[in-house]
Amino acid sequence: MTMTAAPALGTVHLLPQTRQLRALHTIIRDRHVAREQFVAASGRIIRQLMETALDLLPYEPWDVPTPVGRTYPGLRHASAICGVPVVRAGESMEPELRAIMPGVPIGKILIQRDKVTKLPRLYYSALPADIDRRQVLLMDPMLATGGTALAAIEVLLGRGVEVDDMVFVTLLAAPEGIAAVHARHPGLRIVTSAVEERLNENAYMVPGIGDFGDRYFGTDITR
Ligand code: PRP
Ligand code: URA
Repeated sequence: MTMTAAPALGTVHLLPQTRQLRALHTIIRDRHVAREQFVAASGRIIRQLMETALDLLPYEPWDVPTPVGRTYPGLRHASAICGVPVVRAGESMEPELRAIMPGVPIGKILIQRDKVTKLPRLYYSALPADIDRRQVLLMDPMLATGGTALAAIEVLLGRGVEVDDMVFVTLLAAPEGIAAVHARHPGLRIVTSAVEERLNENAYMVPGIGDFGDRYFGTDITR
């Protein structure tokens, strides 16, 4: 794993492991934490992931006049951007991208992992017509076996998006998932806040977080 500023083959961009990030991970990994704390802490991590992912996209020079009569030699995004959450858990990442870029187009890909086989099933996608001319932030907080990510990437490739124009943004990644995705798409950039130890026998990450979607949306409550 490397932490690099420039895109590289098979790069995993791991967020700096600060004490603040570790404290946020302590909240979301605690099985007893209340949902409002889980949502708030995961949102703060996702915001950091989004800012890091946006830094990987192309920029171009853009000068602006400052109020005291100088020119600031600035930068702006060189291409249009699009966010694509994998429904459902990926939708937890949409508000953080929208908070940074309120007008950003958002596509959707609905993929569900079969509860028994753990294999992904694609149900639906709705993507901007010009997505092949955009930089795409593909968002899913969990990269476990990599099956879902690979299926989502296939949808984007089918719409003409190059792997070099995609960044996969995820909160937790398993080494197995990273290896599976990079075996097929060695150039894919992955931004994550943690690389887990491994998958367990149920294809959940350990130490992990459990089922992110259930915990975030409250569908783990049985009564
Ligand atoms: C979870 C998660 C990923 C996928 C990762 O989704 O949000 O999409 O599993 O697992 P994989 O890398 O082994 O494919 P799930 O299908 O459980 O649906 P959810 O988003 O409704 O929670
Ligand atoms: N999906 C989750 O929500 N968590 C995991 O650990 C693996 C897949």
